[in-house]
Amino acid sequence: MSLDITTLVKKYDTPLYLYDFNNITNRYEELKDAFSGKKSLVAYAVKSNSNLAVIRHLANLGAGADCVSIGEVRRALKAGVKKYRIIFSGVGKRDSEIREALQEDILLINLESEAEMKRVEMIAVELGKEARISIRVNPNVDPKTHPYISTGLHENKFGVSIDTAKRMYIYAKKSEHLNPVGIHFHIGSQLTELAPITEACGIVADLVRSLEAIGIEIKFFDIGGGIGVVYDDEKTIAPADYAKAIISQIKGLDITILSEPGRYMMANSGIFVTSVLYEKVNGDKRFVIVDGAMNDLLRPSLYNAYHKIEAVQKEGEKTPADVVGPVCESGDFLGKNVELPPLSHHDILVVHSAGAYGFTMSSNYNTRGRAAEVAILDGKDYLIRERETFEDQVRLEESCDISWQE
Ligand code: LLP
Repeated sequence: MSLDITTLVKKYDTPLYLYDFNNITNRYEELKDAFSGKKSLVAYAVKSNSNLAVIRHLANLGAGADCVSIGEVRRALKAGVKKYRIIFSGVGKRDSEIREALQEDILLINLESEAEMKRVEMIAVELGKEARISIRVNPNVDPKTHPYISTGLHENKFGVSIDTAKRMYIYAKKSEHLNPVGIHFHIGSQLTELAPITEACGIVADLVRSLEAIGIEIKFFDIGGGIGVVYDDEKTIAPADYAKAIISQIKGLDITILSEPGRYMMANSGIFVTSVLYEKVNGDKRFVIVDGAMNDLLRPSLYNAYHKIEAVQKEGEKTPADVVGPVCESGDFLGKNVELPPLSHHDILVVHSAGAYGFTMSSNYNTRGRAAEVAILDGKDYLIRERETFEDQVRLEESCDISWQE
């Protein structure tokens, strides 16, 4: 992103999320092209960044949406994603969510347990509908990523085993209200190795073949999300290699490849911009205190995740500093031992690769308003979410009857 960050900060203030929409387009097209020649649908993982403008931008390019709550389904619909391109996944869905998803007639409800299948069937009966379903298989493959974002081992809560899945498909095939058309797996996030993906694809493709042999025809092969990105110096998977590996495993199957990328699309399409408040030294430890904090960008605190941090237009000898926010937690940091020049009030820091799981994981902890979000498209800037005010935060409390306390 070649941006005049100082001007944007004057206009929008900090903390601020900035997204490069042209980069989102490039990422989408690169992945879509990698699957060309095959039937495919890229269903963007809304959880990574659910701003309506982001979803709308991707919907205009032809993307679908992978959602994990009815709220995300509503966002996708509101942003113009076609209902036949929306998938609803997640280990625990409320009845009301299942009902609404069925009424909206979205492409697939992705099931994660036998109990959930029975629940979906019951609600489909109630509505007199047939539920198009897929089943999330847990292929028991180690994705070799951070344990918090690893999902494809039996020790994780996601999906069902191959045997359970088979039993579920046979049940669903017999049911008048279930139509088992999809199969799904997602082994983890920030994957930088191809081998576990290939292995999982092979296991799941074998299951598809054995289902075909007993008359159950699967139309959608959902490979989940998980393509890793560069935060530091990681070697990542090229979309063309990713597609090639998957296609090699589904030879002979007439099937649509569904993918659910989130981070791949958004992480490097966004930065988080924060202003320096002060510097201080405790003993021999240098701290740079900024106006952004863990409530804005949780990944460093939660996963010890690395995000490159740089000062904008600031020269001088660099020394290591911890970049910390104003939240009352020792775990409130954006970076540790970051090499930075001497800084003073109003200097600006850019936290890179913050477009995915940045804003969506933000909170109001310490009654801090959520940051503003701005899109950059063809060199122009557009506000896509206003900075949250104090009034926004207390609205739901003020509307309650507090007279009993008076
Ligand atoms: N599909 C399913 C079923 C998922 O569970 C996820 C992510 C995705 C797709 C998208 O994965 P991606 O392409 O973005 O890797 N908060 C964590 C990431 C949690 C990912 C959860 N599931 C982080 O900040 O690293």
